[in-house]
Amino acid sequence: MIIAPSLLAANFQSLSTDLKKIDDARWLHLDVMDGHFVPNLSFGPMVIEAIRPLSSQVFDTHLMVANPERLMDAYIDAGSDRITFHVEIDGDIQSLIDYVKSRNIPVGLSLKPGSPVSALEPYLPHLDHVLVMSVEPGFGGQSFMAHSLQKISALKALRSSLDASFLISVDGGINLGNIEDVTAAGADICVVGSSIFKAEDPQKALKAFYGR
Ligand code: DX5
Ligand code: ZN
Repeated sequence: MIIAPSLLAANFQSLSTDLKKIDDARWLHLDVMDGHFVPNLSFGPMVIEAIRPLSSQVFDTHLMVANPERLMDAYIDAGSDRITFHVEIDGDIQSLIDYVKSRNIPVGLSLKPGSPVSALEPYLPHLDHVLVMSVEPGFGGQSFMAHSLQKISALKALRSSLDASFLISVDGGINLGNIEDVTAAGADICVVGSSIFKAEDPQKALKAFYGR
C-alpha cells in the first residue's frame, strides 16, 4: 500500500520545507483545481514545474478541471508522472485516455462521491488506476464518506472479473482511524492531506501511517 501525501494541505509559504518532511513517501499527490469543475482554485503547471527539482517522488497529478485536454501537455511537461482526470467531465474521455498514454504517462479516472462505479466501467480495461473520491472534491480537511468503501470493493471485484490491472486509489478524509477500513476494502493507494501536513510533526505522522 502506498501513502500519497496531498500537497494541497502543505504550507505554501514554505513548500520546499514541507516537501522535505514527507520525502519518505514514494508518491506526492498534486490537486489541480480550476474554480469551475470544483468551487476552488489551487495551482497549475507552474507550481508542479517549480517543485519538480525538489523531489524524486512519483508526481500523481489529480486534475479537478472541466477541460483537462486544454493544458494536458503542460501538466505532463511540468513533471507529472501520472495523470488523473474526472469521468464527470464533458468531452471525449477515451480519446483523452489514449492521448495521455501516447505520452507514456499512466492514466486514471476519478469518480466523485455522487457518481456510480458503473460510470467508470467502459474505461476500466484501459486505465492504470482509478481514484475514488471519498469527499466532495474541492477542499481538504473534510470527513471521509463511508459509502466510498462499497465503491472500492466493487472496483476490486470488477478488476478481477475483467482481468484488469488498474490500481485503486482513494482520496479524501483518510486518517489513522479509518485507513484500516480503506485498505481492507481494497485500496492500493491512500491520498492523505490534512492528517499528514496539518500534524504537528508531518514526518512522524507519515511514519504512523506506514507503521500501523
Ligand atoms: C480534495 C483533494 C484531496 C484532498 C485530501 O479535493 O482531492 O486530495 O487534498 O485531503 P484530506 O486528506 O485533507 O481530505
Ligand atoms: Zn486529490
